[in-house]
Amino acid sequence: MRSRPTPTTYGRLTQALHWVSTVLIVALFPLGMVMVRLADGALKTTLYGVHIAAGLLLAALTLIRLVGRFVEPAPATPGGMSRPRRIAFHGVHVLLYLVLVPLTASGVAMLLASGLSLWPPAVVPSAILHDLGPRVGHDIGSKVYMVIVVVHIAGALLYQRFKGDVLRRIGVALGGAQG
Ligand code: HEM
Repeated sequence: MRSRPTPTTYGRLTQALHWVSTVLIVALFPLGMVMVRLADGALKTTLYGVHIAAGLLLAALTLIRLVGRFVEPAPATPGGMSRPRRIAFHGVHVLLYLVLVPLTASGVAMLLASGLSLWPPAVVPSAILHDLGPRVGHDIGSKVYMVIVVVHIAGALLYQRFKGDVLRRIGVALGGAQG
């Protein structure tokens, strides 16, 4: 098992961080949508705590990945893409990092402006103020983020289907021509 990056694959640590982040992102959105719609009670409080803990963990992992991009050489851009597609490829990656900043900041701001701490078990859902700018920002930001995530996944799967083995870059060995 190769742990170092190669010209066509990320290193093992970067690959692992990618998949842990994916699980967190995919869980955070439905968790957020469900928890705000629940009646007050133990389940709602628990889900708020899990959502906040997962969101902060995702922010920390993303920071580590961002630092990693400067430390570990990234594999070359997958071949065979037109210039607009290459721009879209890089643009979506930048947005995946960039939009997470206001999303995390709005979540944090919502809690602090409501007089709560960032300690997940201490959250009191009913204390969160509803007419807050950060709350609206978080609501809109989370939907924008999901669109970017869907575009990212669709782009990767389309490339995998029609162009080459792009998933190999992040540790999924399905076989086929290298991307
Ligand atoms: C990728 C990261 C995140 C995603 C996709 C996400 C998604 C969501 C969604 C979909 C909602 C429900 C919005 C609504 O229907 O009103 C929500 C609510 C919430 N999120 Fe996040 N979230 C993320 C990160 C965070 C972080 C880092 C924090 C805090 C540190 C946080 C704190 C909250 C809180 C407190 C609410 C409840 C809002 C309310 O009660 O009105 N979220 N989130």
